[in-house]
Amino acid sequence: MSSNRKATLNYGDGKSIDFPVLGGTIGPDVVDIRTLYGKTGMFTYDPGFLSTASCQSTITYIDGDEGVLLYRGYPIEQLAEKCDFLDVAYLLMRGELPSTAEKKELDYVITHHTMVHEQLNRFFSGFRRDAHPMAVLVGVVGALSAFYHDSTDINNPEHRKISQHRLIAKLPTIVAMCYKYSIGQPFIYPRNDLSYTANFMRMMFGTPTEEYIVNPVLVRALDRIFILHADHEQNASTSTVRVAGSSGANPFACIAAGIACLWGPAHGGANEACLNMLEGIGDVSKIGEFIRQVKDKNSGVKLMGFGHRVYKNYDPRAKLMRETCHEVLGELGLGDDRLFKLSMELEKIALSDDYFVSRKLYPNVDFYSGIVQRALGIPVSMFTCIFALARTVGWIAQWNEMIGDPDQKISRPRQLYTGATQRTVPPMGMR
Ligand code: CMC
Repeated sequence: MSSNRKATLNYGDGKSIDFPVLGGTIGPDVVDIRTLYGKTGMFTYDPGFLSTASCQSTITYIDGDEGVLLYRGYPIEQLAEKCDFLDVAYLLMRGELPSTAEKKELDYVITHHTMVHEQLNRFFSGFRRDAHPMAVLVGVVGALSAFYHDSTDINNPEHRKISQHRLIAKLPTIVAMCYKYSIGQPFIYPRNDLSYTANFMRMMFGTPTEEYIVNPVLVRALDRIFILHADHEQNASTSTVRVAGSSGANPFACIAAGIACLWGPAHGGANEACLNMLEGIGDVSKIGEFIRQVKDKNSGVKLMGFGHRVYKNYDPRAKLMRETCHEVLGELGLGDDRLFKLSMELEKIALSDDYFVSRKLYPNVDFYSGIVQRALGIPVSMFTCIFALARTVGWIAQWNEMIGDPDQKISRPRQLYTGATQRTVPPMGMR
């Protein structure tokens, strides 16, 4: 990582200072400015971290110009085709794809952690039935640390491992419970003879009155959604998990913080916003008017599912999602799906419009994932919960990496203060 290269900063009256330039295995070099404040008394100013690497990581690599996404070096396209979600979870957490024996062991461990403490069921009844499922999810996941005290010591590697397994295993159960609670149906207990994703679908759509029939095409499609959402380097929610974890908070609390951040419409809430947008447009004939509104800066309307901080090319996950859309709609005999047709037309028109071309705005993963989820029977309000379920794997892999990083410090950004200078509190009558 270190090199002999230097970047020189000239400042003040003829002063200059050198900083080391560090190189990764791929991707842009970074200027190591950790000594900047100590040596110059200045901070850097970078709202939104546009030019700041907040950590070093070996987990995920994105080349936004080329539209490349690698998990531990493997292209997302290959992982989506050749692996299931738990293979990918193992890869993200441990660094390598599992052998047959390792996979069998992970399947066993995760399967045998899927039940939640029975007392947690009661926790749900404190929420209103009409609460947004993300509001319930963030609360229940945060509450896990109140139920699993025996795995919250972050300095104990065994505790860290158990809490990771618990989070991956219990998220599908809790997400399905959020859904069942919102529609007033009984919770469905997990079953150990089903795969991770099939078990989740059964807990979502099964009822105690009849057996849920697993459709392998639909299970595969949802598993692929999980794989595509599993990690995405230092995005807002992952950075939130790292910032929360940097203070030594327990993993359940950190993942709850990640879920809260993911909820926003500029991040994980975009797939819900995207489907609502498509419903709002309603018909291909209305696309022109909608695009006009998007281009009008005063309208506040955005083309949801388009644009990305890192991808300035087609998001590779969006391509795979579009393919999955075709498969799922074909399997369900919904080839003529109104919203899918509308989204393909919208994509075509946007990609030939100078507003989007000049700003390098392409479809992101959320543009098509909502259509697949809707076809699978997942209600719009649950979309972000599905994202959270999948991203939990990435969050805990990144959290664990941070704990083991010798450079890790509590996250404490500085600021450019622009408020009042010191003044004296006037007496009440003079304010
Ligand atoms: N529709 C219309 N204009 C857009 C859009 C959009 N979706 N995205 C960006 N722009 C414009 C923006 O107005 C700006 O124009 P100008 O230069 O004239 O001021 C320019 O493109 C650059 O945008 P930006 O806001 O500086 O870009 P950013 O990197 O800060 O924001 C983003 C990235 C994802 C927040 C933004 O593209 C967006 O809000 N997209 C819609 C929401 C969405 O789909 N989010 C999901 C992201 S992928 C899943 C995830 O990682 O969570």
